[in-house]
Amino acid sequence: MANPKILPLILFSLFAIASAKVFFEERFEVVDDDCGGFMDFIAVIRAAFHMKFGREKESDFLCLMIANLVFVVLYEIEDGWENTWVVSDWKKDENTAGVWNFTSGKWNGDPNDKGIQTSEDYRFYAISAEFPKFSNKDQTLVFQFSVKHEQKLDCGGGYMKLLSGEVDQKKFGGDTPYSIMFGPDICGYSTKKVHAILNYNEANHLIKKEVPCETDQLSHVYTLIIRPDATYSILIDNVEKQTGSLYSDWDLLPSKTIKDPEAKKPEDWDDKEYIPDPEDKKPEGYDDIPKELPDPEAKKPEDWDDEEDGEWTAPTIPNPEYKGPWKPKKIKNPNYQGKWKAPIIDNPDFKDDPELYVYPDLRYVGIELWQVKSGTLFDNVLVSDDPEYAKQMADETWGKQKDAEKAAFEEAEKKRDEEESKEDPADSDAEEEDEAGDAEGEDSDAETKVDTAEDEDEGHVGFLSPEMMMSCDEEALLRAKSV
Ligand SMILES: *[C@@H]1O[C@H](CO)[C@@H](O)[C@H](O)[C@H]1NC(C)=O
Repeated sequence: MANPKILPLILFSLFAIASAKVFFEERFEVVDDDCGGFMDFIAVIRAAFHMKFGREKESDFLCLMIANLVFVVLYEIEDGWENTWVVSDWKKDENTAGVWNFTSGKWNGDPNDKGIQTSEDYRFYAISAEFPKFSNKDQTLVFQFSVKHEQKLDCGGGYMKLLSGEVDQKKFGGDTPYSIMFGPDICGYSTKKVHAILNYNEANHLIKKEVPCETDQLSHVYTLIIRPDATYSILIDNVEKQTGSLYSDWDLLPSKTIKDPEAKKPEDWDDKEYIPDPEDKKPEGYDDIPKELPDPEAKKPEDWDDEEDGEWTAPTIPNPEYKGPWKPKKIKNPNYQGKWKAPIIDNPDFKDDPELYVYPDLRYVGIELWQVKSGTLFDNVLVSDDPEYAKQMADETWGKQKDAEKAAFEEAEKKRDEEESKEDPADSDAEEEDEAGDAEGEDSDAETKVDTAEDEDEGHVGFLSPEMMMSCDEEALLRAKSV
């Protein structure tokens, strides 16, 4: 492996590290949590290498130098998000494309921590962001985001997608092929679940296990982890809700074993669990007990005329002594062999794919939804190879804000209840309580409003956004050239 081209590469990477570090320090107030800063720094370098050389080259040299590298793409969704996220033109010509609102929502744990929220009812939404190409071969893949349904979602999706290859982001829509679709989906009473759809050999496969999703109006973090041993986990708020194998929980491949289709139940197979007791005998006189008896209470009517009406006979009633036709009692069959089952054999159609879990060319995250009722807010979208990083990130963001958000929500609910109980037709100054976006006439200026709002350093926790990675990458390369 020690070939001559590696030296310049090592030199280059040293420069990249140097410049990335400088860059890092310039752009961030020093983050004093224990490892966040270092991880960001590593992510900068790593992303730079991915972008220019792809993963293969990176593993040639960079990994020799720094152990425990992590691949991290984090979209915090903050000011300038429009530079990273491309709103698709999908459904625009039909006037059914919904507008995204950059907001922290009606209740939140930090008003400066915004995300993007669906803002119009009965609309399609499609938006995506590109990241440095990532292959999860021999790596763990972590896909995570937070989502809040402020509208008390009764029908609509809250899931995201990972897309591969080349995608025209302006045309991204419901028909665009994707690699993974993951997240909550609610419709009526029957559908309240976490989708985890994997594309394999150009077909989409649903997870076969039921994973219930959160149904309240607060933020929750959804995490999908796929490991190189083809196991997976689904977490909600950093708690594992489901785990298992890609082999058994999706029908990606034909199953490994089948019931032998050739096998037949042997003629003499005894599968009767109970049989009549051969010892049991019909009691003496059993058949002499009549089914019905003449009613002893019945009386011949006064006006009965034997000549005209015939001889009177009493009507009959059921005989309480009568127990039906005699049946011997049942006993356990001593020769019972159990229910017959065909033997399980290896499936001749099964061909293992050791790369079942691999998505070699992941490049975009996308949201593509239909919403009857709008108000779903996405934030902190993460693609990484490090579950620990993801966990930490969820703690840093959702974890730190959840209590305040809950309090704000309860406050908002209380206010709304009060407004409702006043119940006067003159709609008072209910600021934020009116249910998500009816009159959406002016939403076209939502985006321009966003442009001017907020100064940059607000609410930044010290994680990296892809824009930062990209600019780092350019700087790194400029420096490298001047060697
Ligand atoms: C965006 O969200 C905020 C907070 O919920 C709301 O006040 C505002 O009206 C929304 N804007 C649009 C265009 O929906």
